[in-house]
Amino acid sequence: MNVLLIGGGGREHALAWKIAQSPLLGKFFAIPGSPGIAAFAECVENISVDDNAALVSFAVDKNIDLIVVGPEAPLVNGLVDKLNDAGIKAFGPTKTAAQIEGSKIFAKRLMKKYNIPTAAFEVFDNPDDAKAYIREQGAPIVIKADGLAAGKGVIVTKTLDEALNAVDEMKTFGAAGSKIVVEEFMDGDEASVLALTDGDKIIPLIAAQDHKRVDDGDKGLNTGGMGAYAPAPIVDATIAEQVEEKILKPTIEALKAEGIVYRGCLYAGLMIKDGTAKVVEFNCRFGDPETQVILPLMESDLLELMIACADGSLSDKKVSWSKSSAVCVIMASGGYPKAYKKNLPIDGLTKAKSLGAMIFHAGTKLKGDELVTSGGRVLGVTTTAPTLREAVDKAYRAVEVIHFEDVHYRRDIAARALK
Ligand code: AMP
Ligand code: GLY
Repeated sequence: MNVLLIGGGGREHALAWKIAQSPLLGKFFAIPGSPGIAAFAECVENISVDDNAALVSFAVDKNIDLIVVGPEAPLVNGLVDKLNDAGIKAFGPTKTAAQIEGSKIFAKRLMKKYNIPTAAFEVFDNPDDAKAYIREQGAPIVIKADGLAAGKGVIVTKTLDEALNAVDEMKTFGAAGSKIVVEEFMDGDEASVLALTDGDKIIPLIAAQDHKRVDDGDKGLNTGGMGAYAPAPIVDATIAEQVEEKILKPTIEALKAEGIVYRGCLYAGLMIKDGTAKVVEFNCRFGDPETQVILPLMESDLLELMIACADGSLSDKKVSWSKSSAVCVIMASGGYPKAYKKNLPIDGLTKAKSLGAMIFHAGTKLKGDELVTSGGRVLGVTTTAPTLREAVDKAYRAVEVIHFEDVHYRRDIAARALK
């Protein structure tokens, strides 16, 4: 089975690492890939992940049997529809199904119509109406751009002034911010439950917790994610069952009732309080960095599961898990999520690996023979161990031997679960 992986971040490095373990794998390509992914797949950098026509013709040319789409943008851009038209199997939802992430309004209306637990909300296409509603509701309150905004389109506000300013900020997201969702603030603990689905059956994966804020103690700006761990104890057996029965299954059924078959990974971002889970958001793909802690604990063949999702034959599959815990600490460029330097030499990776860490490349490139930084999130250092405490200690021992100028990482990944 020849596979093409789309993407080049830390999530895709973890996907490539896991797919490469499958005995079903034949040739393996990645577009654009990364210096990390290059250990497993031939990386092709001269095709854009936004160019559906070029991706389809590459897939036809190389006899690709399955395309695995990592990031949301190509999914929302309809890549899977084009592949299906060309008779090529894909792991990932179609354009219509990917609206569950691509349009907050689509997701919120779907949840409301089918009684899937989430925060109350109103939709506005006029900033003045949004502001009038916010004045009625008061703060705290959450303001969201409708469309994809690279994870930056959500502003959680504590005061009325902040909320009114947030409405004005939505303009900076262009078309994505032309419609605004104003949402009730939810308090609680967040967790991510990802599930594999063929549009009919769902298999929830082990629950993970991300750390979105840039600084320790959940302070500072929101980022793509500064670290994660799994399993997340906040999702105990009762919550896990509730999420499956009240959120994941009803969502797949709701989509089906709307005439939409959702295939791929459905990611539910949850807020959990007093034994009840509500949806913060859905994503139409694997989480980053959740994937970097979920896959190292998966004992099953991921490629086999992905084929079953694409084929509609997930019903006879099971997923088995290691009893260990996994932690991923993101090493970021100083300044991220704002401006940061690039092209800084990275060293210490060999030593870190000898300490038992897996290093997933998120934003690196080769300059000649030298590995340098090329993104905000640079590396994800993942470790597994029989207990979370051991995994955390092992991860930080590895992090401490890796160096690049201005490196920034959180020192408290998984701290809440260790308390
Ligand atoms: P999103 O981009 O939708 O994942 O939102 C980013 C972050 O904003 C989430 O991870 C939450 O921490 C926070 N957030 C979003 N919606 C709400 C809400 N209704 N109440 C509280 N926090 C929220
Ligand atoms: N870790 C958050 C996300 O993947 O959206």
